[in-house]
Amino acid sequence: MSAALAFRAGTLAFWLAVLALWWAAPPIGDAPSVPIDDVPPGPISEVPSAPAGEAGAPAPAASTATFTLAEVAAHARADDCWMAIAGEVYDITAYVERHPSEPELLLPWCGREATEAYRTKTRGRPHSARADGLLVQYRIGTLRGP
Ligand code: HEM
Repeated sequence: MSAALAFRAGTLAFWLAVLALWWAAPPIGDAPSVPIDDVPPGPISEVPSAPAGEAGAPAPAASTATFTLAEVAAHARADDCWMAIAGEVYDITAYVERHPSEPELLLPWCGREATEAYRTKTRGRPHSARADGLLVQYRIGTLRGP
């Protein structure tokens, strides 16, 4: 009888030991720990993107500067040429030499409100979409009154 008792006690001790080892050991397949400081907060879609332009128009550069016509007028030279076109101010100095018309047509508009001149090329026909795309690259701000 005591042998049977000893056998049961031994079996109990064995399973208790198995249980203790099972608790103590780390789970198999535990994910390796990654320092969470390296992970930027928020979903990836929150990464800032360029502001979208109006439908069909290229997005203008994001300058928030404003200029009066008097300030624009201080840049009325071939080597320092600003223009106000449709409420925006452009510094086209770098483009003056590349403009395909004779300089006499373009230069008088440096330092001035040139919306109509740009819209018609002073020849009754509009600039191309390519020209519009070039223009936005030279935007430096918005026109403010008076
Ligand atoms: C506001 C004064 C301006 C006037 C009077 C003017 C006038 C003209 C003229 C006469 C032509 C050549 C003839 C023609 O293609 O019909 C021309 C072509 C062109 N201009 Fe201007 N322009 C002006 C401003 C600008 C500006 C600010 C840009 C761009 C930054 C520009 C970009 C172009 C381009 C790319 C062409 C080639 C033809 C086209 O793509 O339409 N122009 N412009």
